[in-house]
This record gives sequence, C-alpha cells and structure tokens, in this order.
Amino acid sequence: MTQRTLVILKPDAVRRGLTGEIISRIERKAGWQITALELRTLDTEILEQHYGEHKGKPFYEPLMGFMASGPVVVMIVEGERVIEGVRALAGPTDPIAAAPGSIRGDYGVIVRENLIHASDSEESAEREVKIFFPGRG
Ligand code: PPS
Repeated sequence: MTQRTLVILKPDAVRRGLTGEIISRIERKAGWQITALELRTLDTEILEQHYGEHKGKPFYEPLMGFMASGPVVVMIVEGERVIEGVRALAGPTDPIAAAPGSIRGDYGVIVRENLIHASDSEESAEREVKIFFPGRG
C-alpha cells in the first residue's frame, strides 16, 4: 500500500544536530522516498492549523511555544505503509515509554521535546501535506 506522510523534525532535533541521523533512518528503509524537504521556522498561524484539534488541552500552549522556538525540517515521505512505518520508527509520544532502537527511545528526553512528528492516518497525512506543502495537495 503506497502512502505519503507528513514528517516534522522538531526544533530539538535541529538544535541537537540529529536531523541527519533521523533522515538517514528514514532513507534506509527500502521502498521509502523523501519527496519534499524544507528547513523552516513555523509561525503561529501554521501551527494553529496543524495542532488546532488540541486547542484547550493542557499541553497545547507549551507545544505551540516549543514548535515555534527554532527551525524545523518538514518533509513528505512516500512509500509502502509509510504512515504506520514512520510512527513505528519514531516510537511512542513519551520517550520514557519508547523502546531502544526507536528515534524517541534512543534520543528523546521529555514528552514535549520528542524530536519528530509523523501523521497518524491517511486523512491526517492529506490534511497536513496541504498545510505545509500547498502545491503538493
Ligand atoms: S492526544 O490528546 O492523545 O490526541 O495527544 P497526542 O496524540 O498524545 O499528542 C498530540 C501532540 O501533542 C504532543 N504532546 C505534548 N506536547 C507537549 N507536552 C505534552 N505533555 C504533550 N503531550 C502530547 C504530542 O507530541 C503530539 O504532537 P506531535 O507533533 O503530533 O508529535
């Protein structure tokens, strides 16, 4: 099943010099391809579109502040079962619960600074690709 997913390497990944390591884990997967990649700093407007469904939750404001705190790498990754696959590579949201070998298990420290976002369903992926790469909708 060929899919596409929207991946964000969060400000902590850029600050800590981990983007190359994370990108190479994605590139090493046979049959996956990075088809768009951009370094950018996200403003409140785009973050509200992306995380709007979480507005009102206790972590919303800290998450918004963190995601705007420095540049991120935004990517589209395409390939076989890539939505489930990138989330498996990332590991669970809380790095403490993430197994060694996963990105968050190896490098994550706290929940807010968990290095990577990856779309959680085909519907989310399509919505998120349109937000970050409107020309690729
Ligand atoms: S929920 O309520 O189950 O839908 O939330 P969840 O899918 O676990 O997380 C949604 C996004 O919020 C981030 N998150 C947090 N950020 C900061 N602090 C805390 N405590 C926190 N808990 C969750 C989580 O990483 C998700 O962001 P993305 O970018 O999708 O990884």
